[in-house]
Amino acid sequence: MRVLGIETSCDETGVAIYDTAYPGGDGLLADALYSQIAMHAEYGGVVPELASRDHTRKLLPLVEQVLHDARLTRQDLDGIAYTAGPGLVGALMVGAATAHGMARALNIPVLGVHHMEGHLLAPMLESEAPDFPFVALLVSGGHTQLVAVEGIGHYQLLGESVDDAAGEAFDKAAKMLDLPYPGGPHVARLAEQGDPKRFRFPRPMTDRPGLDFSFSGLKTHTLTAIRELEAKGALDEQARADVARAFEEAVVDTLVIKCRRALDQTGLKRIVMAGGVSANTRLRERLATECAKRHARAYYPRGRFCTDNGAMIAYVGAQRLAAGEAAGERDDAGQMRATPRWPLDQLSAPNADADIESNA
Ligand code: KG4
Ligand code: ZN
Repeated sequence: MRVLGIETSCDETGVAIYDTAYPGGDGLLADALYSQIAMHAEYGGVVPELASRDHTRKLLPLVEQVLHDARLTRQDLDGIAYTAGPGLVGALMVGAATAHGMARALNIPVLGVHHMEGHLLAPMLESEAPDFPFVALLVSGGHTQLVAVEGIGHYQLLGESVDDAAGEAFDKAAKMLDLPYPGGPHVARLAEQGDPKRFRFPRPMTDRPGLDFSFSGLKTHTLTAIRELEAKGALDEQARADVARAFEEAVVDTLVIKCRRALDQTGLKRIVMAGGVSANTRLRERLATECAKRHARAYYPRGRFCTDNGAMIAYVGAQRLAAGEAAGERDDAGQMRATPRWPLDQLSAPNADADIESNA
C-alpha cells in the first residue's frame, strides 16, 4: 500500500511517500521538507498565522515533488495520511484539508495521524529498527514524555512534563542568551565552549520517585544566573558558554536519570529517543553510556527525522491504513480532523479486521 504522508502541525511542511510492500526504511520512496524556521526566526518564535499561510503555499508543490522523485502519479497512491494533531490548529487545517480534498478526488482512504506517534515510530525507518516492546523518550518543542510501547497503538504513558517541554526550555534558555530561534542547536553549540564545572544547575524532580519532569524551575534558575552575571558585569562570552553548558548538563542529566528509572521500572532493554531534542549530541552520548551499563540499547531516527518531517507521518499512516483503519472509522465519518490537544494514550491499536472505508 502506497501512502502519501503530510505533516503541517507547526513550522515545517513535510511530505513523503511510504510503501508497505518494502520493509522498514526501504518503504520510504521519497520525502521532502520545507522549513519555515528562517521566517519565524525574525519574531523569535513561531507565528501561527504565518505558519498556516506558508504551509498553504508550500504543500502542493512538495506533493508534486515527492511524486516526481518516486516516479509516481497521484493515481498510484492507495491512501493519504496527515497530521491531525497535536499542533497549531490553523497549520493542522492546511494538511487536513489538502489530504481530504486529494483523497476525495482520488477516491482513496484518508487518515488523521497523531504527530507524537509519528515521532515515536520514526526509528522504524532506520535499518536497525527496534523490536517491540520498548521504552520511548519523546522530547520535542511541545512534549516531554516517557512511554512504554508494546506495539503500534499500545502506548502507556509513564511520565511527562508537568510544565515546559524540554525543547521549550532549550528555546527559552536560548532567548535569555540572545541566541536565535529555535534555540536547542544554538545552546548546544555554545555549550561546547562552556566549562561544565563552573556552575551546577538543579536537576528538577530527580530527588523524588516518579517519572514526571518539570523544567520551569530550571528556566528561572538560568535567568537568575544570567542576571547575577550581568549585574556583576561578568556576562562575557565565556560566562554565556558556561551558563549554556550548565543548562544543557541539567536537562540532559534529568532526562537520562528518568530514562534509567523507566528502564528499571519496566524491565525493558530497549529505549527509543525521538523528537527534536533527541538530535542533541550530549543527550545521545549520555544515554548510550547508561544503556551500555545495563545491557540495554538506544535507538534513534537519523538526524533529519528527529525533528518534524513527513516520512514519520507516511509511515504511521501506511501501517494503520494497511491494517484497515480509515477516515470513516476514526475521522468522524470522513470529516477532516484538526485536534490541537490530543493525548497519545488515547490512541488504540489498528484493527486488522476492519474494512477499509474510503471517504468518497
Ligand atoms: O520535534 P520538533 O522538531 O518539533 C516539535 O514537534 O516541537 O522539536 C523542536 C525542538 C525545538 O524546541 C528545538 O530547540 C529542539 O527541538 N532541538 C534541540 C536540538 N535540535 C532541536 N534541542 C537541543 N539540542 C538540539 N541539538
Ligand atoms: Zn514534532
